[in-house]
This record gives sequence, structure tokens and C-alpha cells, in this order.
Amino acid sequence: MSGRLASDYAAWKKLQTIYDTEKSQLVLRELFAQDADRFKNFSEEYVSPDDPAVTFLLDYSKNLITKPIFNALLDLVREAEVETYRDKMFSGEHINTSEDRAVLHVALRNFDEFKISEEGVSEVSTVLQHMKEFTESVRNGKWKGYTGKTIDTIVNIGIGGSDLGPVMVTEALKAFSKRDLAAHFVSNIDGTHLVETLKLCNPETTLFIIASKTFTTQETITNAESARDWFLQTAKDKAHVAKHFVALSTNTKAVTAFGISSDNMFQFWDWVGGRYSLWSAIGLPIALVIGYDNFEQLLRGAHGMDKHFKETPLEKNLPVILAAVGIWYNDFYGAHTQLLLPYDQYLHKFADYFQQGDMESNGKFVTKGGQRVNYQTGPIIWGAAGTNGQHSFYQLVHQGTKLIPADFIAPATTINPIRNSLHHRILLSNFFAQPEALAFGKTEEEVRKEVGPNSSEALIKSKVFEGNRPSNSIIFPLLTPATLGALIALYEHKIFVQGVVWGINSFDQMGVELGKVLAKAILAQLEKPGDVTGHDSSTTGLIHYYQKYRKE
Ligand code: F6P
Repeated sequence: MSGRLASDYAAWKKLQTIYDTEKSQLVLRELFAQDADRFKNFSEEYVSPDDPAVTFLLDYSKNLITKPIFNALLDLVREAEVETYRDKMFSGEHINTSEDRAVLHVALRNFDEFKISEEGVSEVSTVLQHMKEFTESVRNGKWKGYTGKTIDTIVNIGIGGSDLGPVMVTEALKAFSKRDLAAHFVSNIDGTHLVETLKLCNPETTLFIIASKTFTTQETITNAESARDWFLQTAKDKAHVAKHFVALSTNTKAVTAFGISSDNMFQFWDWVGGRYSLWSAIGLPIALVIGYDNFEQLLRGAHGMDKHFKETPLEKNLPVILAAVGIWYNDFYGAHTQLLLPYDQYLHKFADYFQQGDMESNGKFVTKGGQRVNYQTGPIIWGAAGTNGQHSFYQLVHQGTKLIPADFIAPATTINPIRNSLHHRILLSNFFAQPEALAFGKTEEEVRKEVGPNSSEALIKSKVFEGNRPSNSIIFPLLTPATLGALIALYEHKIFVQGVVWGINSFDQMGVELGKVLAKAILAQLEKPGDVTGHDSSTTGLIHYYQKYRKE
């Protein structure tokens, strides 16, 4: 990185030359025909250094790369000093330079293995112990509501990183959940989200978890106040709040000012980025839903991937491989998006989760040194659980005009083997077929043979699949808490590697501030009658239309 733009690196220039001169030769049909061992040469098996049961295969052979391209991509990673920055992250250096903070989500799942010295790190195990005790007392019914009833519903109130991780993981690990404890998540400031959720809750048996790193986020605090009002309408006495409201935050002062006792606060630290916080106290709803032991397995699974990332040579390092291949499309092929396609219904929120994880991290146009980049940074992340996507947007992926790299993700075994796993075999047949179809397509000659001599030219052309559309495939034995932890950490580190190569700060989020400031200014005007001032004609016109129809 060292203050330079990525496009100044020798490896970048080399990659640009390769792209300009060899692009037409990068045809997957030919690359596979030329190398019988292509799968062997471009796949890696991950086995957790801590637990051999946590394993998966990354097949990256269906990418538009050759060994020289792959090596040049690794040279780029080296030239950007990714290994140095990785070690800085793990040792607690303040690599989040704009906020002067360490980046230590890895310390939350470290179990004292790596030596990390930063304020708060030594308290991680105490908070985990607090989470464990609390989780157990709610799950075994010892924690009672204000009328002596056990808690049967939790409502997490948080947004962004204080919502998306717990939502994604509790969905992904639903099979491990305690079914007599309902879990709801309220994030949107739209009152509908809270009102519709509260219709499902009984104030005597509901526990509200107010999740906010800063405890100043407008949406969360407003929702929390409204939830407290709703609770007090029945409970009356403010003293009862203690049994029904807990907080997950770094801001003790604001939590106690809200009326939550510091005994019911689960602490974390400023070195935990919001979008990397599910491993911290923000994971409390996860622990409540799947049990503390399973939550710990999730952390241990991620820790195994941390070790792999820290200790494995670049050419076998899975996060590095995913990052390098992604850069090839993002920066040389001009691909704008990256698909995440889990063929597992439990992972249906995986792409939503990494929309924040990746786009809030790497959606930056200025380097750490303050220069405007002259290349593309973070991709647009999107996706859906297979096979649903096949019946909506895959048409464009197969035959549209855009190059859309895709990651296919699936478990070999299903947790729900109904009809002798027939459903799962059908699901996996699609998981195998789609990357194959994307890569190899169907030629005009093949179509002609298929449709016979009487078909129109137009019909023939419409049935051609050009192919040569790249993908990665990740397959693992079974979706367990530890495997999920490893999978999430894999993508976290991929994002890290790409951010370092692009020279940006993946750990701040200045881009969400302007809208927030303007909304506050407009809200102040909406509260008062009278004309709105200080806006462009479009914004003013929209507000006038709203004022014409507002009811109160
Ligand atoms: O969207 C901006 C952001 O700061 C995210 O980074 C964060 O996850 C979210 O808001 C919620 O913040 P907090 O946990 O402080 O309420």
C-alpha cells in the first residue's frame, strides 16, 4: 500500500498487459481442454487447523485465469504488502487510520491464542462468560419477567451490523435453535416494523435486546424508546425495565441514561467494527437462539480460518485466492458486481449480510493516503438462495450482456433429508449444473443439432449460451456452527485483502454520514409548521407534496 495507488504497482501493470493481449485466449472450454488437471491445479481444500471436521473445498478452476495470471495476482497481493497489513491487524496496530482504531474482530474469537495487546482485549473472556450465564438463565427459565413468568420471546432492536449478523446467523443455524424461544429482529425506523413485531409479543414474557455500538443511532434509539413505552403501558413501573431490557454497546453512559442497568449491559469495544461485530456481545441473540456452546463453536470455527489466513502461504490461502480472483474481474474485466449464491435455504440471508460486510467496507473512492483512485474498488454484492435465483435473475447471468462472477456455496449433506434426501440431490444437481452451464455454455453448432433443420435463425441464436462466465464453487460437508464461522471469516478476510490492495480503509464508513445529517436537518423542519427552506427545488417540491397529504 505505502501511499501508492494500486495501479502503480508493477504487478498491476503486468496484469493489464496480460489482459490486453491474452483476453481472447481466456476461454474456459479451451483452458479445460488444454489441462486435464485443471481442477487439481485450481482448487484448495480447507481443513481447520483446530478441528478436521470443519472443512471445505474451494474450486476456482472455472475462472478466466491461467497459472501466470494467478501468479501475477499473487504478486499484486505481495506488492501491496497484504501480509504486513494482515500481521498489523492481528497484532492490534491501528490500521483503521481515519478513526485511529485497531481492527480486532479476530480478538473476539481468539481464545487467547494470538498475542494481542489492546485495551479491552483482556476483557473479552469476561464478557463471553457474562453472555454464557445470561443465555443459560434465559434458556433454562431462571431469568423471569416482572410477573414471574419465563421469557419466551426476544426482540433484538438494532440496525446495520447490530442486526444483519444476528439475523443471518440465527437463520443459518435455525436447526440448532431453541424452538420455544421466539426471536424477532426490529431494525427499520418505519414504525410498521416495530408495531407488527409487538403484535407477536407479550410484555410479561418478552426480552428486548437493544443492540447499538454507539447507542446513538437514531433508528435504534427511537425504536427502543417506543418499545419501552409499549412495555410500560402494561408493566407501569419503570423498575420492571431491568427484567426486560438489556443492552449490547460500547457506550455505558448512554445505556444507563436510557434506563438500562450496567449489570444488564454487555460490553464491547471501539476496535470492533459494526459489520464485524456478530462475534462480540452483538452475538447475544445468536447465543440465546442456538445456545452458548453453539455460539462458541461459531467463534472457534472463525478462529480456525483466522489461523489459516495468518499462517498459510498466499497460493494456498483461501481468502487471498478469492480476493485475487475477484480483483481480476473487478479491475481488469470491468465487472461491477459479485454474486453470492448459497444452495442452502438456511443461508438465505448470506448475501444480505455481506452487502454490508463488503460494500460498507470497500465502497470507497479515496485511498488511505487521500488520493482518488483511478480504478474500481468494492463490487456490488447481491444474491439469493439457490434455486430461487434460477427462476428470477439467472437469465441475465447466463445470456445478458454483463460479466457477473458468482460464488456457489453448498453443503454436501442436508440437515433435512426428507424423502431420502431427494430434495437435496435435486438442489445439488442444480448447484453443479449452473457453474457448468455458465462456464461452458452451448454453442450455435450444438443448438443447431438440437433444434433440427426447420428452426429459424432467430430461434437458434436465442438458444446459444456463450459461456465463459466465471464462478467459484465452495462445498462443505454440513452446515454446522463452526463451518458457518469459518465461512464468514473466509469472506471477511477476502474483503480485507481486497481493501489493502486497493489502498483504502475498509474499516470506516464515512459514506453513511451525509444522508444522516441532512435527514436530521429536514426532520427539524418537518416538526415545525411553515415553509421549508434551504433545499434544492426537487427536495422542496417533494416535501411540499408530502405536506399536502400528511395527516398529523
Ligand atoms: O450504517 C452505519 C453504521 O454505523 C454501521 O456501520 C453500523 O453497523 C450501524 O450504523 C449501526 O450502528 P450502531 O451499532 O452504532 O447502532
